[in-house]
Amino acid sequence: MKIIIGSDHGGYDLKLEIIEHLKTRGFEVIDVGSDSDASTDYPIYAKKLTDILTEYITANNIDYDALGILVCGTGIGMSMAANKVEGIRAALCHDTFSAEATREHNNANVLCMGARVIGPGLALKVVDTFIDTPFSKDERHVRRISMYS
Ligand code: RB5
Repeated sequence: MKIIIGSDHGGYDLKLEIIEHLKTRGFEVIDVGSDSDASTDYPIYAKKLTDILTEYITANNIDYDALGILVCGTGIGMSMAANKVEGIRAALCHDTFSAEATREHNNANVLCMGARVIGPGLALKVVDTFIDTPFSKDERHVRRISMYS
């Protein structure tokens, strides 16, 4: 599976820890920036990530094997920006229950987290839960997701 990841300055340090963890697990990781903890604008990186993920979804239709992770200070701005893009279902999760549920029920394709909200230990568990949980493909969830737009 391909993991596309991005952050602003607020999420930069946590992003580096997540990348290290994902590489240890053997995932291919694409980092869209930012490249430092210098102040920047989070929508730039939400856009870069969703551009790549959208291309990947379009090319591979339903069976795309890619997910996104966006980290800012709160995760809120990233989730708002990412959810403006058609085909993107970004979920703000700071606990493993939500991460599991949003993959099973909402088929979320982007995980958003706030580095000023969550510590790295729990963040990595949230990441693992999000990546390791498949969409249930239950008819009622497919129907509800189709009602988003
Ligand atoms: C940056 O200070 C902060 O606003 C940003 O990281 C994020 O929390 C926005 O939602």
